[in-house]
Amino acid sequence: MTSTSIDLTTIRPMEAADIDAVHGLSVEVRWPHRPDDWRLVHAVGHGLVAADEGGRVMGSAMWWPFGEGLATIGMVIVSPRLQGKGTGRRLMREIFAAAGSRTIRLVATAAGQRLYESEGFRATGTITQYQGTASVEGLPKDARARPAGAQDRAAIERLDREATGGDRSHMLAALAGVGKVVVIEEGGTVTGFAVCRAFGRGHVVGPIIAASAEDAAALAAPFVREHAGAFLRIDTPQTAGAMIDFIEGTGLQQVDRVVQMTRGAAPASGPAKVFGLTNQALG
Ligand SMILES: CC(C)(COP(=O)(O)OP(=O)(O)OC[C@H]1O[C@@H](n2cnc3c(N)ncnc32)[C@H](O)[C@@H]1OP(=O)(O)O)[C@@H](O)C(=O)NCCC(=O)NCCS
Repeated sequence: MTSTSIDLTTIRPMEAADIDAVHGLSVEVRWPHRPDDWRLVHAVGHGLVAADEGGRVMGSAMWWPFGEGLATIGMVIVSPRLQGKGTGRRLMREIFAAAGSRTIRLVATAAGQRLYESEGFRATGTITQYQGTASVEGLPKDARARPAGAQDRAAIERLDREATGGDRSHMLAALAGVGKVVVIEEGGTVTGFAVCRAFGRGHVVGPIIAASAEDAAALAAPFVREHAGAFLRIDTPQTAGAMIDFIEGTGLQQVDRVVQMTRGAAPASGPAKVFGLTNQALG
């Protein structure tokens, strides 16, 4: 008989060949990720897997360094067959050692919150998950968003740094490779951008980085129009105001609200702000 004793669990780097196994884990805990969604996050960061003595993958955790000061953690899953035996905590501590002095952000499910609190994370906000069939009724008439071009790349990277406090340029390049990017301008200067890509059951709009909720809505609107009648998702740190009015006006439903947590000093950010997440793992 194979033992699942925690002493026999090996933690090792996640390889591309592990994607099918870690996808199996996310299916087991009912997350919507497709193998391609795992491939994207794996391509732009680092992963660990916990394997039992028979080599079967029983746990996963990933992290993404965004420059020297910031990282995020996500895709933390322990198979329900092995939960409560310390694997989640071991995976976390391996990542802390690798991430060094960086501030770490994550979005915690209810299942993960106690583990993260006990490892020094503090709640810093909430993320509300909206999804459903998008409708064009009530979309703002604001048509300022335009497709991004190569000349917008530096402005997009600068705005993203302002909003998140980290350097996510490699992630933004990967997103531009799989999705569509739009920008908004004010007096000839790019002041916001949004990305839309296939994810999970349909498409997700995010990141959405803008100077105001009105601009964020104008950036998301073309993607709502494009995917009207189909499954669309937006994860937002907003809880009220013009962005929420916009999202709810498109017919997307609030399906979950989870806690955003930070370990270490929050990096300075602004004036551009995050109105939509890339996903809960990458922030
Ligand atoms: C969250 C998760 C990764 C924890 O993994 P795990 O290996 O079971 O966790 P550990 O055994 O290392 O336990 C760490 C802490 O989590 C908490 N915990 C463990 N089991 C728990 C349970 N059933 N209910 C509530 N908290 C629990 C405890 O605080 C525990 O610390 P303690 O044992 O010192 O009291 C796992 O439950 C999981 O995969 N859940 C589903 C996917 C998910 O929500 N992932 C989190 C994404 S943010």
